[in-house]
Amino acid sequence: MVSGRFDGKVALVTGAGSGIGAACAARFAAEGALVGVLDVRTAGARATAAAIRARGGTGMALTCDVSDEKQVEEAVATLVASFGRVDVLHSNAAVFDPGVYGRDRELEALDVAVWDRTMEVNLRGAMLMVKHAVPVMPDGGAIVLTSSVSALVGDTVHAAYGASKAALIGFTRYVATMYGSRGIRCNAVAPALVLTPNAQRAMTPEQLAVKEAERLLPWACSTEDVAGLVAFLSCEESRCLTGQTLVIDSGTLAHRPQHAVERWRSRP
Ligand SMILES: NC(=O)c1ccc[n+]([C@@H]2O[C@H](COP(=O)([O-])OP(=O)(O)OC[C@H]3O[C@@H](n4cnc5c(N)ncnc54)[C@H](O)[C@@H]3O)[C@@H](O)[C@H]2O)c1
Repeated sequence: MVSGRFDGKVALVTGAGSGIGAACAARFAAEGALVGVLDVRTAGARATAAAIRARGGTGMALTCDVSDEKQVEEAVATLVASFGRVDVLHSNAAVFDPGVYGRDRELEALDVAVWDRTMEVNLRGAMLMVKHAVPVMPDGGAIVLTSSVSALVGDTVHAAYGASKAALIGFTRYVATMYGSRGIRCNAVAPALVLTPNAQRAMTPEQLAVKEAERLLPWACSTEDVAGLVAFLSCEESRCLTGQTLVIDSGTLAHRPQHAVERWRSRP
């Protein structure tokens, strides 16, 4: 156990069946929280919850598509029936499968269904989670939304993904404004590339090399690095932070491209 910053608190993490969400769920549990491990993939949610329990923590797997209001309502009700309330919501689920993210390319050829599904999961999903979690946060609480550096800069691909993540930054401020007086804070994290298996699969070796050259620090962000920031934004230590988006990117966005060009030229 790292510390008891979340002793007796109830945390709900979406997209917790793998990658960043799984690491955040594990971190909350390691610090004492009772954790709702929500994912559209039952196997992923169960695996994360089982790993939490194997380490002596409390994790409940919840199968739910965050874009479907009825499923969100039921998942939150199931969690509350066992744990009584929600103190922390980490809305983190996003579409990364090849059929959607992989086809989010040039706009002239974009299948509108790709745009719609991206918005449904990444943006409407976050809204539905907030809508149904806020009423069961009686003592205030913390909401963290996972955005991305893709919200802050453009690219030649992934316009739907980037737009959905940019909208989350605005949504963060609205949630912070609407519920601040009830002691509910809302912040976002915007990671650069985190080498989760799905992110790795979605990129060519050349794209990965360019991302590496873009970083100022020699190390990339791991899922645990993001989990540390999410835990900070969810605990008392950040009680005066709300409406903010914190970039976690090993310096990727802190410079102009010349740095990357020089790194690229001097690569071994
Ligand atoms: N990995 C990166 O490089 C990176 C960078 C910036 C932001 N992010 C963001 O971090 C978050 C997690 O990314 P990750 O790399 O861990 O990806 P991941 O694919 O490993 O995890 C995403 C999880 O969300 C779940 N999910 C997908 N659709 C869902 C739905 N409709 N309802 C419920 N769950 C659903 C998936 O099953 C999966 O377990 C995402 O919001 C992503 O946009 C990732």
